[in-house]
Amino acid sequence: MTAHIIDGKAFAANLRSRIATQVSALKERGITPGLAVVLVGEDPASQVYVRSKGKMTVEVGMNSWQHKLPADTPEADLLALIDTLNNDPAVNGILVQLPLPGHMDESAVINSIAPEKDVDGFTLLNVGLLATGQKAMVPCTPLGCLMMLRDHLGSLSGKRAVVIGRSNIVGKPMAQLLLRDSATVTIAHSRTTDLEAICREADILVAAVGRAHFVKADWIKPGATVIDVGINRTDDGLVGDVDYAEAVKVAGAITPVPGGVGPMTIACLLANTLTATARANG
Ligand code: GUN
Repeated sequence: MTAHIIDGKAFAANLRSRIATQVSALKERGITPGLAVVLVGEDPASQVYVRSKGKMTVEVGMNSWQHKLPADTPEADLLALIDTLNNDPAVNGILVQLPLPGHMDESAVINSIAPEKDVDGFTLLNVGLLATGQKAMVPCTPLGCLMMLRDHLGSLSGKRAVVIGRSNIVGKPMAQLLLRDSATVTIAHSRTTDLEAICREADILVAAVGRAHFVKADWIKPGATVIDVGINRTDDGLVGDVDYAEAVKVAGAITPVPGGVGPMTIACLLANTLTATARANG
């Protein structure tokens, strides 16, 4: 038996097409959703992401602004730009691409974004709203993973979920979302003892460790649903955190890399921008 391949690319295309329909309807009311992306410095991977985000934003009919600042920009200048964007009614979503250069206080910068425009869901208010089960802006990568899980499994209630990775961007919010859907959730990480045995209990296994082919096939419970968040550049090209070629023989369903979680992340950014626009316009 080989696993069902969860086609994130097709899922994301479908989601973007539904977003485009809703953007058209808003435009008929004279409202055009707008997303501002801020990139500080010249990190090549970040440049690729930002370009891709801008292209998709325009494709669904939204306004897109890209603010590119040099790596040595003083933090005060970045905070001033964010303040301008916070106060611009045409801007519904603000994303500051991470990582920021070392001289900047990432937390101070992120928390200067108006929470209602925080389409990344990284501000303390949105983190707290998600953790307490309230109406939050939810981080895009875990939101995309949740959508694919719900689509494939239906209810997640009572399922054993293991998230490998405890980052603020993926691991922690992913765990919160799974918990909100009544899964039984374990967060595992680099210091977890007997990681393999813990993974083998998972009906849902989310790998977000950032290490190529880290999760082996014999860590996977037969029939489990495996979500691979990893994007690792290797000599063999982009690969995930899961040893896909072997895992596909054991899992019930699995996301490929590329073509799994990645496209869903950007689609969810657009979904969050639409949500922010809808909330701003009653
Ligand atoms: N860098 C890597 N992933 C992300 C993300 O989801 N949001 C932002 N702002 N920066 C990132």
